[in-house]
Amino acid sequence: MSFVAVSDLYKSYGPAPILERVSLQVPRGEFVTIVGASGCGKSTFLRMLLGQEQPDRGRIAVEGMPIPGEPGPDRGVVFQKYSVFPHLTVLQNLLLPAEIEKSPWLGRLFGESRKTAKAEAEALMEKIGLSHAAKRYPAQLSGGMQQRLAIAQALLKKPKILLLDEPFGALDPGIRQDMHELIGEIWREHAMTIFMVTHDIQEAFKLGTRLLVFDKVRHDPQHPGAYGATITYDLKLNKPAIASGNGPDESEAMPGDAAKEEAIP
Ligand SMILES: Nc1ncnc2c1ncn2[C@@H]1O[C@H](COP(=O)(O)OP(=O)(O)OP(=O)(O)O)[C@@H](O)[C@H]1O
Ligand SMILES: [Mg+2]
Repeated sequence: MSFVAVSDLYKSYGPAPILERVSLQVPRGEFVTIVGASGCGKSTFLRMLLGQEQPDRGRIAVEGMPIPGEPGPDRGVVFQKYSVFPHLTVLQNLLLPAEIEKSPWLGRLFGESRKTAKAEAEALMEKIGLSHAAKRYPAQLSGGMQQRLAIAQALLKKPKILLLDEPFGALDPGIRQDMHELIGEIWREHAMTIFMVTHDIQEAFKLGTRLLVFDKVRHDPQHPGAYGATITYDLKLNKPAIASGNGPDESEAMPGDAAKEEAIP
């Protein structure tokens, strides 16, 4: 039994088919990177894995169970933008999930539970290098810092699956490099299964243990929207998934230009 099993998934928005015949088996600990043309349905696919969107046909199971029809604590998500709450400081952003869970009416924590939540938030801030910015609001953070915060927030519930939708798309190359290291560390330490959409093919090769390409196999020139996209390539990358060994070895040879990019400080 695969950890994540997607079978014969179809999704349309109104009359427009977006995805068709998507099937996939993913063992635990895999780092799946996803590329494909803009608008081909990559984010839609992630939203279905999250449980935010329902497929028209087919099913998605995690550990043999159909995923619940709403986002749950076993799945964390980071989008390219707007993942964090702009009116809360870094620390408040990291405390909020515990506050909502433990005190849904007041949204405040007291005593021991506040102490525990604060200690967890502080440990995460330390890990992602934001301890010095605990009292700042997202607008006072750089893009890279905001994404660090979004990643930390997604990690709070210790999800088994982390969904990343172009999380580094808006960042400068140097910052991206740091983020690649951070996400690699998190993936290894937390032994998570990651699905990451990216437009950057080098990033996809560098970070993934497996690369999926979404594309349309059927085209009707008279009706460009007649068919949906599916997985046209499923490449195993030269790197073990964490469950089957250690994490990726940074010194390992990377395909093509990805290795060159690694050398850039
Ligand atoms: N809620 C929605 N209602 C109607 N159409 C939608 C909705 N969400 C997405 N779409 C359409 O579905 C298609 C796939 O969208 P999706 O966002 O999944 O693509 P994508 O591959 O992530 O694209 P990009 O690379 O630009 O992020 C697009 O044509 C989009 O306009
Ligand atoms: Mg998208």
